[in-house]
Amino acid sequence: MSEFVEVSHEAAVCRVTLARPEKKNALTSAMYERLTRAFEEASADESIGALLLMGSQGVFTAGNDIGDFLAAAMAASAANTTPAGSRFIYTLAKFDKPLVAAIEGPAVGIGTTLCFHCDLVYAAPSARFSMPFVNLGLVPEAGSSLLAPLRFGMAKAAEALLLGEPFDAAAAKELGLVNEVVESEALAAHAFVKSAALAAKPREALLAARRLLRGDPAPLLARMDEELRLFHKRLRSPEARAAFMAFMEKAKG
Ligand code: COA
Repeated sequence: MSEFVEVSHEAAVCRVTLARPEKKNALTSAMYERLTRAFEEASADESIGALLLMGSQGVFTAGNDIGDFLAAAMAASAANTTPAGSRFIYTLAKFDKPLVAAIEGPAVGIGTTLCFHCDLVYAAPSARFSMPFVNLGLVPEAGSSLLAPLRFGMAKAAEALLLGEPFDAAAAKELGLVNEVVESEALAAHAFVKSAALAAKPREALLAARRLLRGDPAPLLARMDEELRLFHKRLRSPEARAAFMAFMEKAKG
């Protein structure tokens, strides 16, 4: 598929697969746009009761595609529009149906922060979560500056978000980010069974319960606005430019 995102429906579950394994499923603007559309369509489609998000070939995602991301952010800033990645983050936070993720291999940046928005997360032993925003001269996004301290406690959130220390599946389970660690071969099927179980529940009761579990969305959305404002300011900083140039030089070989 041209956007490197595959969408399929089965048993009231919309399965969304990141399919750009040769670039570790790094997310481009076109992929974010396809993801946003998939989430919006799943929300509007009454036959869909849950969305399952997964990677491919042993990789969840390396986060933003760095070259594409920089170009998109600069273009959006010049045109005073919102970049596709930011639009996706709001769609994710406002998504109104059960959301399940199956994580294998690297889950960098948004690959980890999107897990805070999921109802259930399953991870293979190979999963490696990381939020290296500060290392890249940036600030946390997708509400993670609010949600990580709430979920992990401040001490562990500081290790993950300020030191940028990666953590594995077992640590993610201990931190409360992951429900279960599941062997790689069984991961997709297990996550699908759980997604289908959610999709088969009495729909209105489930959606109402989900809203109650999440509480008032206003503080989260306000924090996301603030993160985004700082994130885009930081993108233009010498610190961020140096970090991104270092990645691009390394990628050139
Ligand atoms: N943006 C653009 N390209 C990326 C990428 C990204 N975020 N992550 C990986 N790629 C590309 C690499 O440049 C490489 O391309 P090439 O084969 O054309 O040289 C390919 O994907 C494979 O990546 P590689 O680094 O060789 O794989 P690895 O298994 O050694 O490491 C990662 C995987 C995810 C740990 C590593 O690629 C990485 O750290 N990526 C950057 C993550 C990041 O900082 N993301 C931004 C978050 S905001």
